Amino acid sequence: MQWLLICVGSSPLSVVVYTSSKVGLPAVLPCAVGSHLDSGQTPHIQWQTLTNSVFERMGEELFQGEAYIDRADVPEEMLMKGNCSLFLWDVRFSDAGIYESYLVVGESSIKNRIFIQSVHLAVVDHKIIKPVETGSDLILDLYTNQAEQVIFQNKNDTRWTVLWERGADISKKGYPKERDNKLVFRRVTASSAGTYKVLDSQGLALSTVKVTVKEPVLAKETESLRIHSELGQATMSMPSLSLIILFLLFHLMLQMN
Ligand SMILES: *[C@@H]1O[C@H](CO)[C@@H](O)[C@H](O)[C@H]1NC(C)=O
Ligand SMILES: *[C@@H]1O[C@H](CO)[C@@H](O)[C@H](O)[C@H]1NC(C)=O
Repeated sequence: MQWLLICVGSSPLSVVVYTSSKVGLPAVLPCAVGSHLDSGQTPHIQWQTLTNSVFERMGEELFQGEAYIDRADVPEEMLMKGNCSLFLWDVRFSDAGIYESYLVVGESSIKNRIFIQSVHLAVVDHKIIKPVETGSDLILDLYTNQAEQVIFQNKNDTRWTVLWERGADISKKGYPKERDNKLVFRRVTASSAGTYKVLDSQGLALSTVKVTVKEPVLAKETESLRIHSELGQATMSMPSLSLIILFLLFHLMLQMN
């Protein structure tokens, strides 16, 4: 029994879980209370980084660290089932690092912390290649309110120009419209091809989008392609095997006669 306890108590120390999340999206840092949980007890869970408190829950009571206000949770009903995974929303580059979860046990005077899980969170930017047709709209995802600026570099150019800034209420022609954390650039032309970067307040790229612009495929061309492929299918649908079988059957019938 003693050996078992030591084993349970020390084995998680050696296990670091690595997880990666794209900036601006939610992340789940895995954790399971498992054998540590006494039935009928309201679990008291703590999540922290090496320097900061992140989240704490004791039944309905919860605490969110300063950098995690409105962004962190271990849902109570999940915790009751022994799942102490930490939900983080709108992940930031500054969230990257090592997180540790602890179960707090004992009566009010003497409390003990049982180490549960160490999670290494990496936060990465978005990288996208986006082909669009001339005349159609280019929709650029901002992902998060962290997005402050969008800059653009033409294919042949080395300079970057600012296309959009948060809060700048500009109704100039060609200025993108913001809708649900997306930017809409109307009627793309060949000169819209190039690299778009969505930057946060630190000037770090949340996303890099390479946009290629091509002429729309003409309706006539698609039509002839379709007919062509149908003809191709028609010749394919008479496999040689059935011809051989027909031939053999024919010969068999002749022999029987
Ligand atoms: C805990 O909940 C999270 C989120 O729903 C889920 O991804 C994870 O698999 C659960 N873990 C366990 C051990 O059930
Ligand atoms: C880039 O340069 C090439 C030739 O150097 C030119 O054909 C093309 O139109 C230019 N593209 C843009 C978007 O200016």
